[in-house]
Amino acid sequence: MKKEKQFKRTLITTALPYANGPVHIGHLAGVYVPADIYARYLRLKGEEALMIGGSDEHGVPITILARREGVSPQEVVDRYHNIIKKSFEDFGITFDIYSRTTSEIHRRMASDFFRTLYDKGAFVEKTTEQYYDPEARQFLADRYITGTCPHCGNERAYGDQCEACGTSLSPTDLTDPKSAISGSVPVMKATRHWYLPLDRYDAFLREWILEEHREWKPNVYGQCKSWLDMGLQPRAVSRDLDWGIPVPVEGAEGKVLYVWFDAPIGYISNTRELCPGSWEKWWKDEETKIVNFIGKDNIVFHCIVFPAMLKAEGTYNLPENVPANEFLNLEGDKISTSRNWAVWLHEYLEELPGKQDSLRYALTANAPETKDNDFTWKDFQARNNNELVAVLGNFVNRALVLTWKYFDGIVPAITGLTDFDRGMLDCMAGIRAGVERLLDTYHFRDAQKEAMLLARAGNKYLADAEPWKLASTDMGRVATVINIALQITANLSIVFEPFLPAGMDKLRRMLNVQPPGWSRLGEADILEPGHRLGEAGLLFEKIDDGVIQAQVQKLEDRRKANEAVERRARPVREAVTIEDFGRLDIRVGTVLECTKVPKADKLLQFRIDDGLNRRTIISGVAMHYRPEEMVGKQVCFVANLEPRRLKGVVSEGMILFAGDAGGRLTAIMPEAPVMPGSEVK
Ligand code: 2FM
Ligand code: ZN
Repeated sequence: MKKEKQFKRTLITTALPYANGPVHIGHLAGVYVPADIYARYLRLKGEEALMIGGSDEHGVPITILARREGVSPQEVVDRYHNIIKKSFEDFGITFDIYSRTTSEIHRRMASDFFRTLYDKGAFVEKTTEQYYDPEARQFLADRYITGTCPHCGNERAYGDQCEACGTSLSPTDLTDPKSAISGSVPVMKATRHWYLPLDRYDAFLREWILEEHREWKPNVYGQCKSWLDMGLQPRAVSRDLDWGIPVPVEGAEGKVLYVWFDAPIGYISNTRELCPGSWEKWWKDEETKIVNFIGKDNIVFHCIVFPAMLKAEGTYNLPENVPANEFLNLEGDKISTSRNWAVWLHEYLEELPGKQDSLRYALTANAPETKDNDFTWKDFQARNNNELVAVLGNFVNRALVLTWKYFDGIVPAITGLTDFDRGMLDCMAGIRAGVERLLDTYHFRDAQKEAMLLARAGNKYLADAEPWKLASTDMGRVATVINIALQITANLSIVFEPFLPAGMDKLRRMLNVQPPGWSRLGEADILEPGHRLGEAGLLFEKIDDGVIQAQVQKLEDRRKANEAVERRARPVREAVTIEDFGRLDIRVGTVLECTKVPKADKLLQFRIDDGLNRRTIISGVAMHYRPEEMVGKQVCFVANLEPRRLKGVVSEGMILFAGDAGGRLTAIMPEAPVMPGSEVK
């Protein structure tokens, strides 16, 4: 069995969010709340730990936004960096540093990193043909090229993806490509770039991940394995763009480092900015454990690309773990910035002031740790009202109110323990091991659940002991029960500190204690007899139906607004002649077989009886139809389209679908059965 490594300190990194919009609940649930819970836990245990964050301020989407707004990219990132930073502060995310990739120190470190790899011969240089806008005199990033999707015919597909059918594209897949900058037709032009030959790291990555890190979360391990099994290809690490860190090589004018090359180096430069004299200890000392908190879309960069970069450089340590989360959806739909389908953190706090812990709690309780999860306002309300208020808040309130009622706010002494009390104390003593085991293995959802068990046990203890019934007959017993209830409360203030920092701060004021420290968790003498409590109050408040209804309504309005935009039909295109139309040979065919295309989420492969023969057609409709529901149906297809190879399969034609502006696709079918091969006229 692999020997457990011993570490002296932990460096926690959190994915650097793009500074092209505010942050939302998906960010918080996927990365920042779990990372913060972990960091707070380690600090509470007195361990040496740093949590590093910052904004990712390069990349094409930022330049697109700036162009659309008519401002500089720097203005865009300045604006969002500040909004994001404030949201994190407001939610109690305790970064030791939250910096940015436009900082001078980052620019220097990323540039030096590239140069080191360049000097070592770690890159291969390749000249390829890429789209160039002759009018704007610049090469076009994939996102800057629009055109018609070869799969669904959407005319507003981007060079990297068709948002109507979801297919990943490369710009040369588009028919009628156009530059999104000038509208002109781009031309192919040769350009030279530097590539990191990931294939050279295949053996190292297989050994390091698949053999040495079998303990990684199944979703992370599985995704790495599938990337490795598909075979790694060289990846370009430079781009033709005027926003980013210049490629530090002679003759590379107009080229910048690819955003995914410089961003992860941000973890290092931000550490260096924070600890100029000791940063290397965090990155190069074997006794530092590095943990990267990220979302699932970042797995390949953190587990394959960045480790290959670090390995090529040679002096840095690799992460010990990458506990990536899956995605959080919102009320059944994917969170989307462009469709404004999100709960933005800054808006949440304006509308539910002081309720950061309620959101932290609900997001952890419903964290997408193993699969995508859904956030609903109803669930949020239930978590707050039925758990935070009714279980944790209620227990604390009862313990404090009883102390004030019977002992004037002074902690009473234990007068004698029964087996029943000892059972409660044993349960309290056991909580620590359970929560630690779960936190140490990044199971934050279960760890919070485990902590809540103590509050549940406390409620049961008070309900069974019924001290209020003994006040006239046995005050000694009342004192014991209340002492124990107060020790449970003090324990709760420790165990919930990583999860609910604002609430536990309040609770400590009610208890009138300094933070007791994690090491005391489980102890039954945290509050000394004779200690005077602070003023009691409500730890958490119920959230009314009206507040939830207003949020649901807000989303409902957005959904309607989005649908209205999506329903708006596109203007009719320029006229074609009857001869033009006549060149298209559209026919009806019967679907004989339909299967999913392996390794292509969006594609279905149809086998069609076309009246003369059988033919194969690939369509990007896997998000709209299950393969089995298409078998036996008659569909219309363009029969004389030039065959094209898609994912290694030759597609001989195009099936016709009606597509609304929202991207929904429905097959066009004859109204009554016809002979296969019938022409559509
Ligand atoms: O997906 C994202 O939002 C990226 N900006 C994450 C970068 S993580 C790291 F490499 F900086
Ligand atoms: Zn498409």
